[in-house]
Amino acid sequence: MKIAIILGTRPEIIKMAPVIDEIRKRGMEFSLIHTGQHYDHEMSDQFFIDLELPAPHHNIGVGSGSHGAMTAEMLRGLEEVLLREEPDIVMVQGDTNAVLAGALAAVKLHIPVGHVEAGLRSFDRTMPEEINRMVADVCSKLYYVPTEESAINLLMEGVDPEMILVTGNTVVDACLRNIEIASRKSDILSEFSEDDRIVALTLHRAENVDNPERLGSIIDAILELEEFRIVFPVHPRTRKNLERFGLYRMLQDAAHVTLMKPMGYLDFLLLLSNSFIVLTDSGGLQEEAITFNVPCLTLRYNTERPETVEAGGNILVGADREMITGTARRLLEDPDFRRRMMEAENPYGDGHASERIIEETLRLHREGKLAMEA
Ligand code: UD1
Ligand code: UDP
Repeated sequence: MKIAIILGTRPEIIKMAPVIDEIRKRGMEFSLIHTGQHYDHEMSDQFFIDLELPAPHHNIGVGSGSHGAMTAEMLRGLEEVLLREEPDIVMVQGDTNAVLAGALAAVKLHIPVGHVEAGLRSFDRTMPEEINRMVADVCSKLYYVPTEESAINLLMEGVDPEMILVTGNTVVDACLRNIEIASRKSDILSEFSEDDRIVALTLHRAENVDNPERLGSIIDAILELEEFRIVFPVHPRTRKNLERFGLYRMLQDAAHVTLMKPMGYLDFLLLLSNSFIVLTDSGGLQEEAITFNVPCLTLRYNTERPETVEAGGNILVGADREMITGTARRLLEDPDFRRRMMEAENPYGDGHASERIIEETLRLHREGKLAMEA
């Protein structure tokens, strides 16, 4: 059985790494296809190094652009590569443009699609990611869902229950496999003192960073939280907008804020697991925070990861200055509140999602259930 894996951005590389490891461990045939959506060393190559991944067999090299232009380039490039590679299944992960283009290109060639992290819904169609994951799920044959809750979303949309596989999220596999390696290899913590209450901050969601009012309000909160040591590896999209809106300088001048380039995975994992709070609009970070028992404040008004909120490990603070500062300070002043957040149970599985993904795929292939029906 030959598997084609399509990925294009930082989180896809991280979350597909355990699946690629599993495929290689079993000596299976595979083709690794990078769309080239993320191309800076620190947004792409660094993760291949940190996670010891093989170089992609193909890179479509789409680079940056509008959603339409990027998706069109990807479709054209992926179709060509898939026609040459003739895989038995295409696997995509998450909710980026690669998922949309990869799933669409494959299904039109009658190649079955397996969607890793299927079934998530924010129910907010203004988010490009919501459209991507919904279209990908329409095109998919196999759904590797992280939780029962995402399985229910798919059942409500009429997906065949036999094709919904509750596997857990591969993010946990990646965290558990790499944290020990990170503590051996990374010296990121040497930059901080024992007394630093580290806040790991990441920000890149279009609805936050493309909007000067929302971004300004979040930055006001960051500037106010002087009792914390705020570590902010800045996503390229965010850096451009902070500069454009005249906010970058203010952060540079704040003694309690450390601005950094996007960090490698091992450094970031160690920083995150030693943080007092995670402050983020990232999807993956909401999952990683609960995996490491770090309270997460999510800079959004909704989430496609409601399990983290229901478990008590994540609070949606939006882009509201007072909500952000008030909740962060409560974590400092109220140990019981903090303890309850830290004790939240991880809903994303036991770190064996990638094994289940490959095992179940092989089983369904053997049973002849991957074929496209008329
Ligand atoms: C993309 C995904 C988002 C995911 C995120 C992970 C979509 C619609 N969005 O958002 O779901 O959470 O990746 O980080 O697929 N840029 C660089 N160098 C790079 C990459 C990007 O400078 O290597 C800059 C460019 O100016 C680009 C901007 O960042 O226009 C945005 O990049 P893009 O890939 O369009 O979206 P992300 O915000 O990265
Ligand atoms: N990450 C990283 N370095 C950083 C910031 C994030 O390695 O400087 C990792 C993080 O551990 C997580 C992933 O990148 O696994 C999340 O990516 P991102 O927030 O860009 O995308 P999202 O998860 O929101 O799609």
